[in-house]
Amino acid sequence: MCGIVGYVGQRKAAGVLIDCLSKLEYRGYDSAGVALFEKSGIEVIKATGRLKVLAAALEAKPELSATCGIGHTRWATHGAPSDLNSHPHTSEHVTLVHNGIIENYLKLKEMLLSNGYTFQSETDTEVLVKLFDFNYDGDPLCTILKTLSQVRGSYGLAIMFKDFPDRIYGVRKESPLIVGYGQGENFLASDIPALLKYTREYSILEEGQIAEVTEDKITIYDEFGNPTEKEHLTADWDVEAAEKCGYAHFMLKEIHEQPKAMLSTISPRIEDGMPDLHVKSLTDDYLRKVKRIHIVACGTAMHAGMVGKTAIERLCRVPVEVDIASEFRYRDPIIGEDELTVIISQSGETLDTLAALKLARAKGSKVLGIVNVVGSSIARESDDVIYTYAGPEIAVASTKAYSVQLAVLYLLALRMAYARNTLSQEKVQAYVKELLRLPELIGEVLEDSEQIKYLASQFMNCDDLFYLGRGFDYALSLEGSLKLKEISYVHSEAYAAGELKHGTISLIVEGTPVIALATQDDVFEKTISNVKEVKSRGAKVILFCKKGVSVPADVADYIVSLPVYEEIFMPMLTAVPLQLFAYYMAVLRGCDVDKPRNLAKSVTVE
Ligand code: M6R
Repeated sequence: MCGIVGYVGQRKAAGVLIDCLSKLEYRGYDSAGVALFEKSGIEVIKATGRLKVLAAALEAKPELSATCGIGHTRWATHGAPSDLNSHPHTSEHVTLVHNGIIENYLKLKEMLLSNGYTFQSETDTEVLVKLFDFNYDGDPLCTILKTLSQVRGSYGLAIMFKDFPDRIYGVRKESPLIVGYGQGENFLASDIPALLKYTREYSILEEGQIAEVTEDKITIYDEFGNPTEKEHLTADWDVEAAEKCGYAHFMLKEIHEQPKAMLSTISPRIEDGMPDLHVKSLTDDYLRKVKRIHIVACGTAMHAGMVGKTAIERLCRVPVEVDIASEFRYRDPIIGEDELTVIISQSGETLDTLAALKLARAKGSKVLGIVNVVGSSIARESDDVIYTYAGPEIAVASTKAYSVQLAVLYLLALRMAYARNTLSQEKVQAYVKELLRLPELIGEVLEDSEQIKYLASQFMNCDDLFYLGRGFDYALSLEGSLKLKEISYVHSEAYAAGELKHGTISLIVEGTPVIALATQDDVFEKTISNVKEVKSRGAKVILFCKKGVSVPADVADYIVSLPVYEEIFMPMLTAVPLQLFAYYMAVLRGCDVDKPRNLAKSVTVE
């Protein structure tokens, strides 16, 4: 969603702001803008479309010399993408950029209209900036506190007050915002990658906290306006981690980073051949007592939860429910005693997931977060966190984050199975040994990328595609289908292979593309029967199965053979060619792979 940056220092702010915004492009946006404290007053420059349009507009104004300013990439919510609706928004005394939604903006607008204010845009943000103006009393801090007390909704804000050209302010509620500490310069941003080129030292603003940023000082105030101390953190992501490093796209780079991400996530959690999650409260005793698990997440993270459910139920015999966070939070879920809620999120900032977490806690559940971004809201609100060590994931389409989420869920399942005595120590150790082979096997799968590229070239013009599978393969096919849809814009559906004939098989006609996943020995023959059903109706089938299995003749047009591996872990291998297939389809169809239309990396609105 929207990206926010702010700069105060000695460099030309326009260049720094564009630079920082470019590192937030992955979040998704459709227009961009900056506001600069020039000697003549505040100058606002905005442009619809990609950041390069804004950059060109700024380059055409070499006279801009401000060393203080704010910038924004907007993902449209209220009003279409346009210069008028894009940020910054201004009023007589105040200029600001906003990430989030002001829920009571219509009521506030009425009040402001009756006080003589006029509006040019359709946005809730213009209402907010005029409310700031209405409340302005010469004291920025008091104005911020008063204004925000009248506002309902979510916000991350960077604010400039015309009378205070040496500083900017940042404040947040339910939208992420960090401050970055430099030498003779300081920053505001929605996310760490924006700052990595300039500094690694940062602090995360808590709900309601206000940052006053000047070139030599950052003062943090609590929600009541009292100065407060803030812990300084150091980002361990380096600049290269947020660069493409020779790959055509971040998505391709991130797919290729999976062996390393898996190793970093799994190996520190193995002690004496046994899984050890290093989470104090997840003792064997606790894991023995858990009666039910709720896994709650959105999108790809929810699909990881579906694989996790299959693994935990199979290995531990504990019932697991998987919920889409936006459904969970409004369905009044039943959470009993000794039930654990597992919240999965790459960004740690997804609004619905965060709300689901809070609901689960309010209902008395213990919450375990599986999160990639250290210090993110979900990480901080969970009772305990298991970090996935994928490094920054920049492409909107999640790949390496999904794989490491799976790895953590398998580790949890194995430890739990040991604690509950559904697997012996020897059996768990044997599984762990297999798990440690994963990085190497993913490497092998990546070496076969050319075959997947060729398959994409054969299917690139299709309009619809079906993914089929049973058990683990069904859970994975949901993710394969999502990946294809979101970046290549090809419609696809994932079906439990046995369910097709209950309706959907009517859509299979001569040439309909079907990707069939058949990596599980126990249901292999059943899945093959289902594949025959679509094949005999003319489907063009790509079959994914393990090397060496015997596939009846004429069942598939193409076969992708995967390394022979422990079958419960197969989703972590099969995911890779499915990601590559979506990637190459998107490339061949000329799509903007890393920034698919209408999508945002971190979804911080409902
Ligand atoms: O940051 P999160 O893991 O909470 O994000 C959840 C979804 O928005 C995310 O997985 C989304 O579905 C991805 N774009 C899929 O590739």
